Amino acid sequence: MKKRALVTGGAGFVGSYLVEALLSKGYQVIVVDNLSTGRRENIPDACRFYQIDIESPKLLQLFAKEKPNIVWHLAALTDTSVSLESILHDLEINLLGTLNTLKAASQIKCEKFIFTSTAAVYGDTPKLPISENSALNPISPYGVGKLTCENYVRMFCDFYGIKYTILRYGNIYGPRQYQKGGSGAIPIFIKKMLSGETPFLFGDGNQIRDYVYVDDVVEATLKAINKGDSKIINIGTTKGISTRRLYKLIATLLDFKASPKLIAGRSGEIVNSVLASNLAKKELKWRPKTDIKDGLDKTVKWWKGIKH
Ligand SMILES: NC(=O)c1ccc[n+]([C@@H]2O[C@H](COP(=O)([O-])OP(=O)(O)OC[C@H]3O[C@@H](n4cnc5c(N)ncnc54)[C@H](O)[C@@H]3O)[C@@H](O)[C@H]2O)c1
Repeated sequence: MKKRALVTGGAGFVGSYLVEALLSKGYQVIVVDNLSTGRRENIPDACRFYQIDIESPKLLQLFAKEKPNIVWHLAALTDTSVSLESILHDLEINLLGTLNTLKAASQIKCEKFIFTSTAAVYGDTPKLPISENSALNPISPYGVGKLTCENYVRMFCDFYGIKYTILRYGNIYGPRQYQKGGSGAIPIFIKKMLSGETPFLFGDGNQIRDYVYVDDVVEATLKAINKGDSKIINIGTTKGISTRRLYKLIATLLDFKASPKLIAGRSGEIVNSVLASNLAKKELKWRPKTDIKDGLDKTVKWWKGIKH
């Protein structure tokens, strides 16, 4: 009998790639998504799709019916600026939604729970790259919420005897990442440059970020099926790139000549973030493969081929 994999947020950017990979590996895939930022066309017909909120009591009935073996919990409100504007909304989806998903998973005692966390749990850290043992000082409601969820995942899974892995992703990019609100420098830059508008950079544009290509992230996320039990693992490249340099790389690919506009930095935004990936190498036998120039090239080509 096919193993059943349930993906919350499976209609979203990362989730949709994960779903495709799980189907190609022969899993029966169940997607839970309210389509708030995800897209119906991202969900392959071979999946069983439930359009519901992760906070809904219906989630418990759904888990009882589908009895997934493995749960990937990706559904979240992912925009840091939205989390700052609407703290309670962030809490409702990211914290209460995660608690409800954990409750549903523990009720059926699934085999493994994989939680997608973020580099935002570290906040601003003077020493780069950031290892998993670094201080945890999130500076946005999104980061605080994800860190709290990590603790609930550990606590629930230990209590109910469920295996778990927590993955702290860097800045993911790639095709299918639509621009949502004010987050995601890469889709914002590409979209603006394609429409002839000059993008702006926050502060001096020298912030350093760790951009990791979506295919690499999905590979690591799949490896967590049978590796990395009870571990919290960074998924990044160990290489930082400044926002200014990122702008230049994208501008070159699009033959966009204008220099960026500079505007004041935003609160809640981390200045520098680069994730060490030694633990991922050791525990998941994973390392990122995609060079930023190749990843950006694929991403730009995708943007050129879609209506936006
Ligand atoms: N993209 C990144 O750079 C990045 C970095 C670090 C961590 N992450 C984490 O990875 C996960 C996936 O992120 P993404 O970039 O694919 O985001 P996304 O917004 O594309 O995907 C999130 C999905 O969750 C769904 N969703 C949101 N609220 C829901 C709710 N209440 N009930 C049901 N479904 C709901 C959305 O419709 C969407 O399909 C998130 O947990 C995010 O915090 C992403």
